[in-house]
This record gives sequence, structure tokens and C-alpha cells, in this order.
Amino acid sequence: MSDLLTIILAAGKGTRMKSDKNKVLHKVAGKEMINHVIDSVSDISSDIVCIVGHQAEEVKKQVKNNDVRFQLQNKQLGTAHAVKQAEEDIKDHDGNVLILYADIPLIQENSLNLMNDYHIEKSADLTIMTAVLKNPTGYGRIIRDEQNEITNIIEEEDANSKQKKIDEINSGIMCVNSILLNQALSNIDNNNAQNEYYLTDIVDYLKVENKKILPYTIKDEKEVIGVNDRIGLSEAEKVLRARINKKHMGNGVTIIDPETTYIDEEVEIGSDTVIYPFTYIEGDTKIGRHNVIRPNNNIIDSTIGDNNKIKNNNVIKNSIIKNNCNIGPFAHIRPGCKIEDNVKIGDYVELKKAYVDKGTKVPHLAYVGDAKLGKDTNIGAGTIFANYDGINKNKTIIGDSVFIGSNSTLVAPLQIKDRGKTGAGAVVTKDVEEDTTVIGVPAREYMKKNKEDE
Ligand code: UD1
Ligand code: MG
Repeated sequence: MSDLLTIILAAGKGTRMKSDKNKVLHKVAGKEMINHVIDSVSDISSDIVCIVGHQAEEVKKQVKNNDVRFQLQNKQLGTAHAVKQAEEDIKDHDGNVLILYADIPLIQENSLNLMNDYHIEKSADLTIMTAVLKNPTGYGRIIRDEQNEITNIIEEEDANSKQKKIDEINSGIMCVNSILLNQALSNIDNNNAQNEYYLTDIVDYLKVENKKILPYTIKDEKEVIGVNDRIGLSEAEKVLRARINKKHMGNGVTIIDPETTYIDEEVEIGSDTVIYPFTYIEGDTKIGRHNVIRPNNNIIDSTIGDNNKIKNNNVIKNSIIKNNCNIGPFAHIRPGCKIEDNVKIGDYVELKKAYVDKGTKVPHLAYVGDAKLGKDTNIGAGTIFANYDGINKNKTIIGDSVFIGSNSTLVAPLQIKDRGKTGAGAVVTKDVEEDTTVIGVPAREYMKKNKEDE
């Protein structure tokens, strides 16, 4: 729908966050607040202008949607002043303008759609999304007259004690006619407690002009939580985590204790996967069907197939695990690993940039770094891939059906070809040929088995 221009305000300093980072770049369920807001509107408005100012370049860099345009607010003089930076965009646009603040991360597309429809249906000049809150402290309050019509919005700082008791608040989201918006912006002053140009003063202006101002009260007031400080951030986080977990449970995922399961917004999980408590699944992670993820796992930017058993206490980052694997407990799968079907990565095993082919087992206490492991190979307990010579990281290539004896040290660069074996405690410094067993320190050939021997 191209007849809706959206303006998102993200220029403020966010002083109350007490942060080196712009407020709107703080994450809720793994995604920056500004990206939450943009995503909520990207399907209903094809023209999105973001007002940036404080740390403008960083904010622009973090915005994921490439269609968003930016306008700069050099000095942060208030929300009306911020919208005014899009004056030309508003002038070029004949229709309705949707205004959103980038610190309202939980707003949902459906609510914006309903408000926009309401605005059009009622031929309103200005529709303000309001909410009724148990604790309205900090928000602008909606003031109504005897006819119950909105007359103005009073900011917390400007409100008297009677006004502070009003529990109907301004969410900061509004729909307004473009021509009236520009007119109003030229007429708003900064005559208030904060000496700021308040966007909320648009109501006073349009009221005098006798324009139609309507409230649109949102059903779920949690959607309009405005995040101004770390407490607000944690509240938003809690609400969104619950919403995400509900979505997955609705899709057939078992979450044993949603209160202690933390799943980022973008994560995908297939049905009949069971997730035990204290699990964090983050970033760009995709998990298939019928997996069991036992307590205390942290899975980050990874892809996991079907029917895997992820036992307790593993960290899996930037890696791929295919199907029917057994992982952990206490495995650390570091970035760049790919684990094929039917693999076992057992207790206290660390993997880094390792490719592990089908059916291979690394059951206990091993370090496997910069390595390629073939099929049906067994890596004995305590094996160390000595991949670093103090200057370079070197690679180890292990073939199919290899048997590495317990406590072997494999000094890279090294190749151990198909069906090679090492004895317990071997320190292997030279390549091992097919069907050859090496033992000792440094390891020497012990025997070579010919195919004909079998
Ligand atoms: C604002 C509203 C308040 C409402 C609340 C809802 C005003 C005057 N007040 O207050 O009525 O109840 O939101 O959450 O509008 N920004 C700019 N440039 C500026 C100032 C702010 O771009 O000069 C941006 C901020 O980055 C932020 C948004 O505008 O994303 C809102 O500003 P904020 O300071 O959080 O306003 P509130 O005090 O929350
Ligand atoms: Mg705010």
C-alpha cells in the first residue's frame, strides 16, 4: 500500500538509558528496537522515513530494511521538530501519514492496520493510539472535555497532580492527514517545561482548527510499552519473550518452562521439538523437527536439522548440525563447524572449524580444531588436534574409518588416511598412510595391514 507514508522517530539521545549506544539500537529479544518498529510497518507502508540524529550513522548502519529512507535532525529539539525534518516528504505525499516512535518495539502490524482502517473509515483528521494503563507514570496523558472529546495531551513534566491521575495515555502512534500535519508543525512552539517542540501539541492546533480528532484505544496495552530506560527495556523483553514462546508452542514446539526459555525473534523451530528450561536460542538460528534440547543450552546463529539429542550444557555457535546427532553434555561447538548425520560429539569436547562426516564419534574430552573428519571414524578420549604452531593455524585431515587412540596428539598440518590407527598416547607428527597403525612419541609405523590380509 503506497498511500501511507510512515515516519519513525529515532533521533533522540535516550538520556534515561544512561548508555553509550543510541536507545533505539538496544535489543529486545535479539533485535534492535528500531528494526522491530520498521518490521511492524513494512508490509503496510512502502514509504518509510526514519528521522535520525544522535549517532545517526550508526543507526543507519543497523537498519536492516534497505527501502527505508532517512532524514537528519541535527539538534534534538523535540518530537515535533523531529517530524518537521520530513517536511518535504510530507509535502510530496497526498494522503495519510503514520507516525511511530522507535522506542515502542512491541507494536504489531495488525494493530497499526486496524488503527489506519479506523482513521480512514471515520474520516478522521487525526487518530491517536491511546491505552489505559495501571501505571501511566511517564507517559503523556489524554485530556478530554465534557463531551468526552480529546482536547489535548499533557506531558508528565507539565501535568498537575489531578492530570497525573489520568490513566489514559498517548502511545506516541498517530495517523494524520499530510496537509494538516505540515500546517500544525509550523505552528507548534516550545513553550513547556522541557522547552521542546512536542508533537503532542498537534492536538491543540487541530482542535482550534475544528478538525476531527479521534482516539483509537489499543486492546493489548502491552504493545505500546515505551522504552525510555533499562526498566522499560526489561519489561518489553519479558512481554516479547512470552509472545515468541507462545508462537512456537502454537506451532507444536514443547517448551517445558516458558519463563526460563529465551528465544530470539528471528529463530525458527519445527514441531515436536522439545526444549527444556534455561535454554537461550539466539540470532539467526533454525532448528528442525523432533529434536530434544535438554537444559542449559545456548545456541547462536546455527542450523540444526531433525531428530537430534542436544544434551545438557552446550554452546553451539555459527555452526550446522544435520540429523540424528548426539551432542554433549558440555560440548563447545565453536564457529565454522559442520556436523553431518549420525555423529556423536560427547562430553567436554571442543570443536572449532571442524567438518565431521556421517557416523563419526568424538565421544569424550577432545579438542578438534581446523579439521576435516571422514565417515565412521572414532576419536579417542583426550585427543588433541595441535593445530597452532605459535604462528599459523594448520589443518588436520582424517579419512574414513580411522581409529585415533586415547590421548593422541595430532600435530598439524597432518593427514591420517582411511583406516589409519594411532596407539594410545601417540604424538603424530607425520602423515599416516591408509591401513597403517602408528604408535609412540614421535609416532612410528607399527604395522600396515594389506587389503589382501583380510
Ligand atoms: C513521548 C510522547 C508522550 C508519549 C510517549 C509514548 C512527546 C512530546 N511525548 O514521550 O506523550 O506518551 O512518547 O512512549 O512526543 N525523538 C527524536 N527527536 C527528538 C526527540 C525525540 O527523534 O528531538 C525520538 C526519540 O528517539 C524516541 C521518540 O522520539 O524514539 C520519543 O521520544 P522520547 O524522548 O522517548 O519521548 P517520551 O518522553 O517517551
Ligand atoms: Mg519514549
